[in-house]
Amino acid sequence: KTTALAAGSIGKDGYRHYMEKELHEHPVVVGQTLQRFIDPTTHRIVPLNLPFDLSSIHRVSISACGSAFYAGLIGRYWIENYARIPVDIDVASELRYRNPPMEKGGLGILVSQSGETADTLAALKTFRENEQHIVSIVNVDQSSIARQSDYVFGTVAGPEISVASTKAFSAQLSVLACLAIALARAHNKIDPLQEEEMVNHLLELPSKISQIFVKKKEIQQMAEFVADAKTVLYLGRGSFFPLALEGALKLKEISYIHAEAYAAGEMKHGPIALIDQTVPVIAIAPSGPQFDKIASNLQEAKARGGRLLVFTDQAGAERLQTVAEQCIILPEVDAFVAPIIYTVPIQYLAYEVAIKKGTDVDQPRNLAKSVTVE
Ligand code: AGP
Repeated sequence: KTTALAAGSIGKDGYRHYMEKELHEHPVVVGQTLQRFIDPTTHRIVPLNLPFDLSSIHRVSISACGSAFYAGLIGRYWIENYARIPVDIDVASELRYRNPPMEKGGLGILVSQSGETADTLAALKTFRENEQHIVSIVNVDQSSIARQSDYVFGTVAGPEISVASTKAFSAQLSVLACLAIALARAHNKIDPLQEEEMVNHLLELPSKISQIFVKKKEIQQMAEFVADAKTVLYLGRGSFFPLALEGALKLKEISYIHAEAYAAGEMKHGPIALIDQTVPVIAIAPSGPQFDKIASNLQEAKARGGRLLVFTDQAGAERLQTVAEQCIILPEVDAFVAPIIYTVPIQYLAYEVAIKKGTDVDQPRNLAKSVTVE
């Protein structure tokens, strides 16, 4: 049960805010977290030495709050997709009241940066009462959640000072991706070659994430546009829908602009009524299996006067250039790891909007870094 202090010192190191510094720590944090779970010579996930056998797990339940919950949503997508194990996920404040039936011997996963969030701790107790194996993905080694878990996957993110979570989120995703691979292997859903290929995609992340910071000017330009809005709509599909939620949460949290996130296909079931030329529509739309679907959702938004701001890759940008007001082109990566890359500009955009609004970025109003009451 160790969590090393990874990136950086306690000071701001010349950055304007802790949040900006912590955003720039994404590549190192992802790299160091992956190092903990990946064998550098075989490029396979190291033996995890869990106190139970992963092949005995036939149901997974995840619980967390806020951004950590969104990381869990992406984790669900990976575990279901690659390990073919059904996953339940609840925001921690709802879990115990929903009182879902859980078969003994399932896997309960808690995700928390601080390890002290009261609702997440209560979710841990619910898992315990239901005789689940309990693992936590936490950033603070000696925290209550870490201490009460059967096993701790430490995110090697170092101290996160800004109230808005940034690097802890990409570290949580890195752990969840490795856990999904380990579960897939334990259930014979991937062979060693596929495992190596997936691991190689993960190992490319730190250098690819570093390339995002050269987009700063473009992100600032997008922020200019968003800062004038009263309401912003975030859209994504599949594993990018939780990133839409993350983008909207981060924008609300630090810039105080109202934002909503929708699975892009849901737009026609209501939120499309919101769209006019004053509502920026931010889409997370890399090319891939779901691209055509989201492209057509964006066409619908455009037809209602919506102004589209898109995070995509080269191929996606070529397809969307006639509809989008601005496309930010991100490095090509495999669809498996793309949510980790797209996290960074989404959070960065919220930061730059907050700068334009002149808010107290690191200490946003009404919020505390960790919520230790129910
Ligand atoms: C994220 O930017 C928030 N500050 C918040 O949603 C946070 O993720 C949530 O409160 C959970 O905190 P934890 O990870 O420390 O449990």
